[in-house]
Amino acid sequence: MSEHVLVEREEGLLTLRLNRLDKKNALTRAMYSSMTEVLQQADADPSVRALLITGGDACFTSGNDVADFLQAPPTSQDSPVFQFMRTLFEFSKPVVAAVSGPAVGIGTTLLLHCDLVYVSRDAVLKMPFVSLGLCPEFGSSLILPRLLGQAKAAELLLLGESFRGEQAVAWGIANQALANGAETLAKAREMALRFQQLAPSAVADSKRLLRAPGREELRRVIEEEGVLFGQRLRSPEAIEALSAFMQRRPADFSKFA
Ligand code: COA
Repeated sequence: MSEHVLVEREEGLLTLRLNRLDKKNALTRAMYSSMTEVLQQADADPSVRALLITGGDACFTSGNDVADFLQAPPTSQDSPVFQFMRTLFEFSKPVVAAVSGPAVGIGTTLLLHCDLVYVSRDAVLKMPFVSLGLCPEFGSSLILPRLLGQAKAAELLLLGESFRGEQAVAWGIANQALANGAETLAKAREMALRFQQLAPSAVADSKRLLRAPGREELRRVIEEEGVLFGQRLRSPEAIEALSAFMQRRPADFSKFA
């Protein structure tokens, strides 16, 4: 188990806390593998009724570790990040997220696959894939236009515009915006604990029904995005952008046709 993923158990609620604050909770291959393991065990354990995903009070996650993207890009469907997102996508129990501070890249994408999302007002959500020479991932190119319409989705996915907690609620990405990180986590925990009182198979059946419409199309889009994302990670554009982040300089795309 990665030291950067903490697992807490409280009655039937399993909390998965990202804990790599010196790197703004950037997600490494080891962290994805640990999270996959936790999710698989939680899904198989009848005493677990819900899962809560959170980060720190000041940061949810800065997204995929950029050094990992350069050194060990996830170019196969067996890569830890794909395994984690597939496991989240197929997870049969309710997943609740508590988000404060930045939620970058996959930090925002994964919220689209959670059932209940609580955000602090100061949360900053952002999907800067194109700025990194990449493309949308894990269904966001299908889910976001459906939620927000093509025009807004284009601002978020093509220009990588960021948005705050209250906007995430207005767009239907999150349930409620709270004053700060502590209140956000408390609310998310309170709602996640409610599943303790509910009939587990009725919850699971209902989650499946809620997520059924368009699911096959979503699966196809996730696969298509995954192939393209892997190709793009090896592209000179992405290598320039990711190297620029590591070197703390702006990316220079002027040489690309
Ligand atoms: N991968 C690897 N390292 C990361 C990282 C990431 N995704 N995000 C932040 N870090 C590291 C920084 O390099 C820095 O490391 P250092 O202290 O060794 O120099 C440390 O975390 C702190 O980050 P910093 O950028 O200085 O903090 P900040 O408060 O100014 O900004 C963010 C925080 C989250 C807004 C900013 O780090 C950011 O935008 N990161 C996103 C990177 C990204 O594009 N992710 C998407 C990948 S698809």
